[in-house]
Amino acid sequence: MNEIWIQSTGGALGADVHGVDLSQPVSDAVRDRIRQAWAEHLVLRFSGQKLDDHMLMRFTRHLGELDRVPIAAVGFERTRSGIEKDAEPWVAVISSVVKDGKPVGGLGSYELVWHTDMSYNDLPPRASLLYALQVPPAGGDTGFLNMYAAYDTLAPELKRAIDGRTCIHDSSRNSAGELRKGFQRTLDVRHTPGAVHPLVRLHPLTKRKALFLGRRPGAYIHGLSVEDSEKLLDAIWAHATQPRFTWYQKWRVGDLVMWDNRCVMHRRDAFDETLDRLMHRTQIVGEPVLAG
Ligand code: OGA
Ligand code: MN
Repeated sequence: MNEIWIQSTGGALGADVHGVDLSQPVSDAVRDRIRQAWAEHLVLRFSGQKLDDHMLMRFTRHLGELDRVPIAAVGFERTRSGIEKDAEPWVAVISSVVKDGKPVGGLGSYELVWHTDMSYNDLPPRASLLYALQVPPAGGDTGFLNMYAAYDTLAPELKRAIDGRTCIHDSSRNSAGELRKGFQRTLDVRHTPGAVHPLVRLHPLTKRKALFLGRRPGAYIHGLSVEDSEKLLDAIWAHATQPRFTWYQKWRVGDLVMWDNRCVMHRRDAFDETLDRLMHRTQIVGEPVLAG
């Protein structure tokens, strides 16, 4: 317990956790210290880890209840090599690696736009934990965005404009814009499929308000004309995605990064598609979304 040490990135969010070996079970005391640091820093990085899927699942379970992997994109064969059978429902593979002509995971090598994981569900996961097994020498950095800061600094008229309003979170496309299996493209945002959530979200533990945007494509604010919804969304997004609210993770093999999906959005830079990048991800079941 005395060895755990938290070091802030000095940026808008994020901290390194030193002195924890996640290949071993962690004590409840260490777990509580991690939770406390997580509430404060929103994103935590554990570097130099050597984890198999069961270790990743054990640590995730110690923090909460494991959530199922998201629905795959069209044309994505679940070869998912390297995942053990009993880990399959719980460990997502995010990868550009192609084996025997088939991608071993989802989301390829292209840019992923700012998003909240699985917010198109009524109960979006509380957290995602992304573990790097292979990383390219350059590119593929993951950006994180502090949605408390984005809300706190919003102009009063924008705060007023979104107060009490809800927004639809598109379930038909993934963060790379690919259509998921079983979905049609929708052209009119008023008919976007997905969950409806408040634009301002109250964090159940910190009791702080965060902007809750999910993702821009397919979004629609209920009760407004499409034109007004687009205008308001553009204004909020332009404010929220300013570099001053972000911090970027440059991956090294053995990094495990966990983010609080209730108050953080993330995105990914594209990278050279001929380079191999392989990540395994778990997610923690969330609680009902509270309006802020
Ligand atoms: C994710 C995700 C970003 C990345 O796993 O949810 O958005 O850097 N990944 O691969
Ligand atoms: Mn994501």
